[in-house]
Amino acid sequence: MSFLLLLACAGPPVTPATPVGSPSTAELSTSFGHPLIIGHRGAPGYLPEHTLAGYQRAVEMGADYIEPDLVITRDGHLVARHEHELGGSTNVAEVFPDRRTTRVIEGRSVSGWFSEDFSLAEVKSLRARQVLDTRSSEHDDLYAIPTFQEVLDLVKTLEVQSGRRIGVYPETKHPGYFDEIGLSLEEPLLEQLTDHGYQSADAPVFIQSFEEANLRELDKKTNLRLVQLLRPGDLPKDLASVATYADGIGIHKSSLLTEAVSGVGAVSPELVNEAHAAGLLVHVYTFRDEPRYLASSYAGDPVAELKDYFDAGVDGVFSDFSDTAVRARSQRESGAEP
Ligand code: G3P
Ligand code: CA
Repeated sequence: MSFLLLLACAGPPVTPATPVGSPSTAELSTSFGHPLIIGHRGAPGYLPEHTLAGYQRAVEMGADYIEPDLVITRDGHLVARHEHELGGSTNVAEVFPDRRTTRVIEGRSVSGWFSEDFSLAEVKSLRARQVLDTRSSEHDDLYAIPTFQEVLDLVKTLEVQSGRRIGVYPETKHPGYFDEIGLSLEEPLLEQLTDHGYQSADAPVFIQSFEEANLRELDKKTNLRLVQLLRPGDLPKDLASVATYADGIGIHKSSLLTEAVSGVGAVSPELVNEAHAAGLLVHVYTFRDEPRYLASSYAGDPVAELKDYFDAGVDGVFSDFSDTAVRARSQRESGAEP
């Protein structure tokens, strides 16, 4: 069985023995590239999102950080999923056909299978699937749903193997809702990060959330860096206020387009400059290779799009295709034409 398959299977995490002569964490190269390349949900351009195999692929493609979105199980285990509704990204409908239910989440009625109704053992019996029907499903039903603990263990293993530090960029999903039902995300999140040695502001960690209250609570509990995610229509007027509890903002790529409605405008540095003036980093989501996600002016070239955002001064990009983002950054650094 390959190392990758061992990592992906249900059951206890498998950590290969550290080879003799491997660097300790203190000896790893700590210089991250700039702008940061963040493996958005792992490597969903190639493998089902939020799987250990996907995170590993992102690191192998050169990502500086990997990005686990976090939800929680009935018995309080953080697991990596973009949504707590599991039907969209796993085979849960086939494994537990009778467990479909309807819940009201943030004022919306949603039907499906929810992580908070399942034990970790039950979640571990599921397998991940490609979320977008426009991408290959050839790797569906191969990989288990990882716990946050397993993701952090994987990062440590990959750091030793690669000889470089690898950052972790967890996102709390629906933290207010989970608080309401007695399954708070913050405590297990900070406890597991602390257990893995992540505590200080210079640790290679960003915790992100769309929910300001969640970030304000985290700001009181940790020195780790925090990022306020913002939807395109939701940009704050007072960035200085955001800077009182966060270290950066995570914005949709359309937020920098001068003609966001048509999607063909130029990338403007204005918001980036304002955020920098307020002392905030700017990370931009989400870059995808497929032409349907690119403004028509790029003629299907995702590298050209990324370079425009790099030129606008952004500090990091979330990409489904870390290899493409790394290539764009390398070409720009070397001054090479595509
Ligand atoms: O976290 C940055 C970006 O991932 C936010 O969007 O929906 O992909 O989690 P989403
Ligand atoms: Ca995310």
